[in-house]
Parts: sequence; structure tokens; C-alpha cells
Amino acid sequence: MNRDFINQKILVTGSSSGIGAAIAKSFAKYNTKLILHYNRNYEGVIDTRKEVIQRGSQAKILQCDFRNEEEAPQFFSDAVTFFCGIDILINNAGVIPKKEINDTDLKLWKDTFSINLNFPFLLSKLFVSDRLEKGKVGAILNISSIHGDISCEKFSAYSASKAALNALMQVQAVEWSKHNIRVNTISPGVIEVERNKHKLREQKKLWMPKIPLGRYGTTHEIGELAVFLCSGSASWITGQTFTIDGGTTARGNYPIRE
Ligand SMILES: NC(=O)c1ccc[n+]([C@@H]2O[C@H](COP(=O)([O-])OP(=O)(O)OC[C@H]3O[C@@H](n4cnc5c(N)ncnc54)[C@H](OP(=O)(O)O)[C@@H]3O)[C@@H](O)[C@H]2O)c1
Repeated sequence: MNRDFINQKILVTGSSSGIGAAIAKSFAKYNTKLILHYNRNYEGVIDTRKEVIQRGSQAKILQCDFRNEEEAPQFFSDAVTFFCGIDILINNAGVIPKKEINDTDLKLWKDTFSINLNFPFLLSKLFVSDRLEKGKVGAILNISSIHGDISCEKFSAYSASKAALNALMQVQAVEWSKHNIRVNTISPGVIEVERNKHKLREQKKLWMPKIPLGRYGTTHEIGELAVFLCSGSASWITGQTFTIDGGTTARGNYPIRE
């Protein structure tokens, strides 16, 4: 049992499904107090809470639509109230809209940035202010994407928002190191979740040559990396992006020669 997390209060945004739910479940093995955020998928977040409790942790649920940036202060203050603080902030909630640039209107662009970048920016600031007020240290972890570093056709708003999140993370890590607040990023490759699993199964022939380890990633693998990066074992790691993609970015786009 990793004792670093006992009674630690952890906010995981977007924990109603996929990677966020898996991160919450990975932390739930360590006697933590989890604040589970969702937007529309109430049933999903109830399932996550059930599993978290089964694993011996506590859980509270909070709803918010991150397109409404003005709601960030109230959302954060409600989240803090549940367990009298937050020690670890996981900015996971995100949208992945698929549109060519010429079909991407300003509303889609702005909504994507509100959810993927502006809300994490606002929550991180609120988190740090609260930590300073309480005289405590903390850790922030963002879930970005390999498409914050390498281009992805038809996902311009997504790629741009994740690239900005990566750049922001480095500045935050440097500025907040004096407060002993670490900020890191996980950049996953293709991870099978409920939302994409049918498509990914159909597209296996297309994807497998791109992934040297020969399979899609699992949400559990992201959850376990998140736990490590927020633990005492990672106490000298800040300002870093951890790619977890089965070798996809290492292979690049070269043809596979016989
Ligand atoms: N799966 C992949 O292959 C992959 C790869 C790289 C990076 N990622 C990143 O991983 C993160 C999680 O994605 P996922 O694949 O696990 O997808 P997912 O299962 O669809 O989860 C997305 C989460 O974001 C929340 N969300 C969506 N719109 C929101 C809004 N307007 N306001 C607040 N929350 C909102 C959803 O809440 P509700 O469902 O409750 O509305 C859900 O909890 C994202 O940041 C994504 O960019 C995923």
C-alpha cells in the first residue's frame, strides 16, 4: 500500500467515464478522498463512485459544464468544501471534436478551448491560491495528448488546445516550484474507451502498424502512471510531459520496410 495518499483529497475532472474514471479507481486503492466531476453522464459517475467506495476510498460527486468558464470559482469552492481542501488536482476532462479547419467555427473553437485549456488554467490558479492560504503543498496533473505535439488532421481545435496546455504546464511548474507545487502532464496515444471502442475495433488494421507495441493503450495504464506522478516517488519531477503511446511517436510516420 502506498501510504503517500492516505486521506489525500483528489479532484479528478471528467471522472464519469474513460481515462478520468480509471484515474479515480487507481487512486481509490490508497484510502483517498475523491471528488468526482462529471458534466452530463450522471450514471457513469455513479458507477465510478461505486467502484471507488468498493476499493476503500471516499467519494463525492460534483457537476459542472466547463464551457461556462465563469462557473470555475463556484465549482472549485464547492469541491474544496467536501473534504476541507484538495491536495491533488487532475485536469482530465476534455473534448475531441473532429472537423476540418474550414468547418471549425468560432463557437466550436471556443468551447474546445474552454473545456481543454481555460478551465484547467482557472482551476489550477484557484488550487494554488487555496494551497498557499492553507500553507500546504500539492500536485497538478494534466491529461493532454500526443496531438499536442504532433499534428492531427481534422482535429485542429483539439491539437491547438492541448499544445497550449503543454506550454502552460511548463510555465506553471517553474513559477509554482517556489511553493513546492509540482505540475506535470500525461500525453496518451490511442486509448480504448467506451466512446471510441467500436471505431477503434473497426480501424484496427489502420492503427496497428502505427503502434509498435501492437495494441491500443488501456485506461488502467494511464491511471497507474497518474498515481506514480502524484506520489512521493516523483517528488523531484515537475514541468514534464510523459508520453504513453506504445511507441507511436517513436516510430513516426516512416513506412515499415520489409
Ligand atoms: N481516449 C484517448 O485515446 C485519448 C488520447 C489522448 C488523450 N485523451 C484525453 O483524455 C481525457 C479523457 O478523455 P477520454 O478518452 O477518457 O474520453 P471520455 O470517456 O469521453 O471522457 C471525457 C470526460 O470529459 C467530460 N466532459 C466532456 N465535455 C465536458 C464539458 N463540457 N464540461 C465538463 N466536462 C466535460 C465528460 O463528462 P460527461 O461525459 O459526464 O459529460 C467525461 O467525463 C481528455 O482530456 C482527452 O483529450 C484521450
